[in-house]
Amino acid sequence: MSPKKNGPEPIAPAAPWVPVTIRDVAKVAGVSTGTVSNVLNRPDIVAESTRRRVLQAVESTGFIRNTQAHQLRGGRSQTVGVVVLDVANPFFTEMFRGAESRLQTEGYVLMLASTDGSVEREANFVRAMEEHRVEGVLITPAAAELGALAGLRTRGVPTVLLDRKATADEFCSVTVDDVRGGELAARHLFETGHLELAFVNGPSSVRQCRDRRQGVRKAVRSVSKTKKVEVTEVSVGALTVRHGEDVVERILAMSPRPTAVMCANDLLALGVLRGLASRGVRVPDDLAVTGYDDLIFGSMLSPALTSVRQPAFELGVAAAELLLDEVRNPDHRHREVRFEPELVVRTSSRP
Ligand code: RIB
Repeated sequence: MSPKKNGPEPIAPAAPWVPVTIRDVAKVAGVSTGTVSNVLNRPDIVAESTRRRVLQAVESTGFIRNTQAHQLRGGRSQTVGVVVLDVANPFFTEMFRGAESRLQTEGYVLMLASTDGSVEREANFVRAMEEHRVEGVLITPAAAELGALAGLRTRGVPTVLLDRKATADEFCSVTVDDVRGGELAARHLFETGHLELAFVNGPSSVRQCRDRRQGVRKAVRSVSKTKKVEVTEVSVGALTVRHGEDVVERILAMSPRPTAVMCANDLLALGVLRGLASRGVRVPDDLAVTGYDDLIFGSMLSPALTSVRQPAFELGVAAAELLLDEVRNPDHRHREVRFEPELVVRTSSRP
C-alpha cells in the first residue's frame, strides 16, 4: 500500500557508522595512542589524572574497543567465564553475584553458563569461553572427577573451582565442608527426637550429594552409640523443586513412616513442603523438614525452613580474589579457601 501523499516524511537512512579509533581518542585527550592503550589494558600504570582525561575522551567520542582485534594481538578479554551446575538454583546465582561484585570493580564482565550436570555442555561452554580469550574461569565441575578440566590447566587458563575441592594443588578452590553440613542437619533431627529419617538426596555423580550423605552416615554412627536410629535415603534425579514435590508420595508410603525428611538442598525441601501441604500433612507436627543452602526464601516460608547455611555470596567473592591473584601474582600458589556450614533452626523442624 503506497503511503498517502501528505503522509509522514520518510525517515532518512542513518549515515553509515564510522568507527571511532584509538587515534581519535588520543587526539581529543592530548596523549599518545600508547597511553590510550595502557589506560584500556593496564590502567594501574597510568597516572590518575591522565587516566581520567583519556576515559573522558573515550566517553565523549563514543569509542568502543574492538576486543576481537585486541585478542588477535594475543591479548585477553576483560571477561571471566563462570560455569555452574544450575542457574535456576539461587545458591549458584548468589555465588555468581559475589564473584561479579568483586570482579566488576576491576573492570571485568562475566559470562555465565549452566551445565545442568552435563559434562558435554560443560566442555562446550569451556571451549567457547577459551575462544573468547577469557581472562579466567570459575567453575563448579559437572563431573565427579576433574579430568575434563585438565585442558584449562594445560593451556594456562587461570581456573578456580567453585564449591568443589581440588584433588591435589592443580587448581585454587572455594569450598564448604558438606560432610559437616550433612552431619549438622542429621544430628539436629536425631537430637530433637526423630529416630526415623528420610534423606532426599541427588545423584552420587554430584560431589555435594556424596559429601552430605557421608555427613549423615557420620551422624548415624555417632548417635547410634546411645539410641537406635534409621535413615532411608530416597534418591532423586536432580535437586529441583519438582523432584522434591514428586518424591512426597514415596515418603508417605514408607513403612514405618519417617517423622522427619532431610533434603539435600532447599529447592528439594521447598518441593517437599508443597507436596506435603497439598496432602494436608502438617509440618513439623506430622513431619519435620530440613533443607540445605539457606536460600533467601527459606525464612519467608510458612513454616520457615530449617536449613544449613552456605555463605554463597562470600564463596563467590573469595573465588574472584583467588582468580585475580592467579592472573596478577607471578608467585601465585594454588590454595583452597574453606568455609564452615552453619545450621539455622526454624519452625519446619522445631520440636
Ligand atoms: O547443586 C546441588 C547443590 O550443591 C546446591 O543446592 C548447593 O547446595 C550446592 O552446594
